[in-house]
Amino acid sequence: MSKVIDGKAFAAKLRARVAEKVGKLKSQQGVVPGLAVVLVGEDPASQVYVRNKGKQTLEVGMQSFEHKLPDTTSQDKLMQLIDQLNADEAVHGILVQLPLPKQIEEEAVINHINPDKDVDGFHLNNVGRLAIGEPGIVPCTPLGCIMMLKDALGDLSGLHAVVVGRSNIVGKPMAALLLQENCTVEITHSRTRNLQEECLRADILVAAVGRPEMIKGDWVKPGATVIDVGINRIDAGDGKTRLVGDVDYDSAAKVAGKITPVPGGVGPMTIACLLHNTLQQACRINGVEMPD
Ligand code: GUN
Repeated sequence: MSKVIDGKAFAAKLRARVAEKVGKLKSQQGVVPGLAVVLVGEDPASQVYVRNKGKQTLEVGMQSFEHKLPDTTSQDKLMQLIDQLNADEAVHGILVQLPLPKQIEEEAVINHINPDKDVDGFHLNNVGRLAIGEPGIVPCTPLGCIMMLKDALGDLSGLHAVVVGRSNIVGKPMAALLLQENCTVEITHSRTRNLQEECLRADILVAAVGRPEMIKGDWVKPGATVIDVGINRIDAGDGKTRLVGDVDYDSAAKVAGKITPVPGGVGPMTIACLLHNTLQQACRINGVEMPD
């Protein structure tokens, strides 16, 4: 088996499985899953994400609804749109692209989404469900990581997992999912003492700190599995930029048993998991089983 965990190929397989099930849901139940994406403002990175989401949603046979609002949109106006999407029977997933402009309170907006349509898994209801192990909606990036880990390693029981980073979007839900898989879980962050020493204990090392190439080869236990969630654009020195993760890939790959590259690792899995979550919620909302 290859050392490199190919997220691009894995995501393509997951999307193909989702597309097949969307086809069956349509023909057997007459249900077409729909995903609404809301973008406020003109952040260039967010525009790229939203465009890719819309394209991939259509490719798997779902309906895509895009709502683009100006940078000056008030919180009330955004809440009204969410009310409308919450009530719309053609919409099974609502994603409000983050970050939002500063006049809008992110938490209030996220918690205004119907928890059954919160395909990001950021609503307090879904955060709580994940914390106590109740079925709910799991945030897309950590879900993609756990799928790749189980595919690469099989049973994760008893493995020592170290998560570097404690964000609500990745670090915390990642730790909860690893715990559900019976790992011994350690969450580390910028204030952790002797971070290198802690990382060296990991059988599974998940890097989600947002610091380019911070984790070096001599932070990795020989044979460990390294999952790099970071996507950082750095100066390549020749007037160009390049994408790197939170892991120094070249040195870490020499020591790791398995490792995800950047790009082509965790990144492509996020949208594939978003489509998976939307399909799952279209089934749940309509009270039908997920097709085989
Ligand atoms: N911005 C960056 N990542 C994400 C994400 O996973 N979901 C949303 N809604 N916004 C994001």
